[in-house]
Amino acid sequence: MQERAPFYSVWALRAWHWLDKRYALQRLFHALVDVPIPRTARTLYLGGITLFLFFVQAVTGILLTLYYRPTPEEAYDSILFIMNDVRFGWLIRSIHAWGANLMILFCILHMLRVFFQGAYKAPREMTWVVGMLLLIITLGFGFTGYLLPWDQRAFWATTVGTEIAGAIPVVGRFAMEFLRGGPEISALTLSRFFGTHVLALPVTLAALILVHLVMIHQQGLSDPTEPAWPASDPPKEVVTSDSQREDVGEH
Ligand code: HEM
Repeated sequence: MQERAPFYSVWALRAWHWLDKRYALQRLFHALVDVPIPRTARTLYLGGITLFLFFVQAVTGILLTLYYRPTPEEAYDSILFIMNDVRFGWLIRSIHAWGANLMILFCILHMLRVFFQGAYKAPREMTWVVGMLLLIITLGFGFTGYLLPWDQRAFWATTVGTEIAGAIPVVGRFAMEFLRGGPEISALTLSRFFGTHVLALPVTLAALILVHLVMIHQQGLSDPTEPAWPASDPPKEVVTSDSQREDVGEH
């Protein structure tokens, strides 16, 4: 006897068809996930792992802001509260701290993989440039996040970090005071670092990741066995996932 599908899967299927008829969801889904991947491509999943770690950081970071208070009087105590009193607070904070280190590590490993396979060459120069910006922002997360616990280590690390900026010729003093919000590390530095860490950097990183992924989507992954575009004679037609699909007779 043929088994009947459970009622919820029938309803889910109906809902899918209903929406698909109206909004061409299948076409949209294929347009999003159809990325040509050469058989010889070896990404080692490093870009994907970095992306996953970004999501982990976003979720644990949002949870931490529920209890963290960015003022010199309260910051350290709020961290103690998260570690000792909030249920699983220690776990969320530890995942966030480990995740930060791992994200930097995997971002650098991903960059090295791209470099050693020559995947930065034409036509992927701009994907590399956007990647560089992603790495700088990822490091910026580490720098701004380090001050937030407002303990001795945080204070002195930021003192040294901002002094390094102060050593830049000509604009050094301006750069240091811009980072600190004044000549010294103070409440202004803390709120400045907090705002940058939880708003400015995440929004910029998310937007640039989107650009990075759209670029990869449009070109497909590089084939390490294929030569790059010769600089003197690039192909007349830009290779996109659509034109590649047409090349193999798909429409
Ligand atoms: C937040 C940081 C980053 C994320 C989330 C990210 C994500 C990704 C993903 C998912 C891919 C496709 C699969 C893969 O190669 O693993 C990719 C490819 C690529 N990424 Fe990144 N990436 C980041 C940083 C960087 C950096 C630092 C660079 C170089 C400076 C870079 C340059 C590239 C290039 C050139 C490709 C195309 C590789 C190919 O076609 O073989 N990315 N990235």
